[in-house]
Order: sequence, then structure tokens, then C-alpha cells
Amino acid sequence: MIITCASFKGGVGKTTSAIHVATYLQSLAPTMLVDGDPNRSASSWARHGLLPFAVIDERQATRHARSYEHIVIDTKARPDEEDLKALADGCDLLVIPTTPDALALDALMLTVKALRVLGADRYRVLITMVPPKPSRDGEDARALLGEAGLPIFAQSIRRLVAFQKAALQGVPVSQVSDPRAAEAWGDYERVGQEVMG
Ligand SMILES: Nc1ncnc2c1ncn2[C@@H]1O[C@H](COP(=O)(O)OP(=O)(O)OP(=O)(O)O)[C@@H](O)[C@H]1O
Ligand SMILES: [Mg+2]
Repeated sequence: MIITCASFKGGVGKTTSAIHVATYLQSLAPTMLVDGDPNRSASSWARHGLLPFAVIDERQATRHARSYEHIVIDTKARPDEEDLKALADGCDLLVIPTTPDALALDALMLTVKALRVLGADRYRVLITMVPPKPSRDGEDARALLGEAGLPIFAQSIRRLVAFQKAALQGVPVSQVSDPRAAEAWGDYERVGQEVMG
């Protein structure tokens, strides 16, 4: 399985999603995360050597690919329509994280046409950093994206500080000492199940 994370706006949770989808897939079979972002955020997450899977620079990825059953690719933001097609053709599923705020949703809706051309089985939108109640942002975003006909993961990712701690400590969120770490991991575990389902 080859999974690529891409988005039309920066800072929406691509790297966090790539790390945790890879953590899930590694529990099933050997998995490598290809760091395709020149900012090297995933490599920085891996710097302490505490992640359960390999993180490999995109420039070295080809040589390592045959040793792994699953590959997750973290990319930099903002593919144009042409990039989008090439990205989708290079993987089994394109995961497109978006936060439920207007700016991120607008950026995504601008590309609805290009996405539709890909076909609904090639990509899925993941709603991330959903604020707690009484905010209805998560539900509103889901309704908007659903009306636009975009395929969406049934599971959303909540906004939890445990994810920031995980990045700082260089571990998956399940390994963070935080009262809500298990819930945070549960969100991505269910996304992983949907990816494989
Ligand atoms: N579910 C979440 N809850 C709280 N904070 C989060 C969550 N997901 C990501 N973050 C934080 O939001 C910031 C952006 O996340 P991340 O780096 O995963 O996004 P990105 O799309 O990869 O960004 P970039 O475009 O810079 O590569 C980080 O500080 C990260 O720790
Ligand atoms: Mg990133």
C-alpha cells in the first residue's frame, strides 16, 4: 500500500497524519515513511530514533522501497492541478488533510474540480485539528465537503495538545505522557483502519 499525504494549504496536519498512518501500518507490516518535504519535518520527528518505522529521505527512497510492504509519503503543501494528478498516480490513496477553518476549506474547495477528475476512489479528505464542543466547526466542515461530493474519512482528528508533544518528543502520540494521548492515537488508529478497509 502506498499512501501520500498532500494538501492545498500548509500547516493542516500532513506530517502528523503521515507519521500516524505510518505508525498504524507498521503494526501490520514493515512500513517506511518517505520524507518528501524539503523542510524535512518528518525527518526531524524521527531524529531521536524513537519512531517504530523507518523515515527515509525522498532522494534515497527508491533504493529502500523493496524492503517495505507499506510506504507513506509526506509532501510539501500546494500541488497544482497537474501535480495532483501525478501525486495520485504515484500512490494507492491520496490522503488530503484539512482543518475545519474557512481558509483551509476555501483552499480545498478551489480544487474540487481537479479532485473530481481523479475519481473518488483515488483520494480521501481527512478533517484534522477539530476543536472541542461547543464549536461545530468539525461538523460544519464535514457537511460542506460532503455537499461538494468529496470522499471524507468517517473518522476526524481532534485538536489535542498531545500531538504537539509527540512532535517535540519525536514519538508517536501513543507514546506521549498526556491524559488524552490514548484518545489522540485512537483517532488515527481508526483512520488507519479506514485506509486498509
Ligand atoms: N490534531 C492536532 N491537534 C493539535 N495540533 C496538531 C494536530 N495536528 C497537527 N498539529 C500541530 O499543527 C502544526 C501543523 O501540523 P503538521 O506539521 O502536521 O502540518 P503540515 O500540513 O505537515 O504542515 P506543513 O505544511 O508546514 O508541512 C504542528 O505544530 C502540529 O504539531
Ligand atoms: Mg509537513
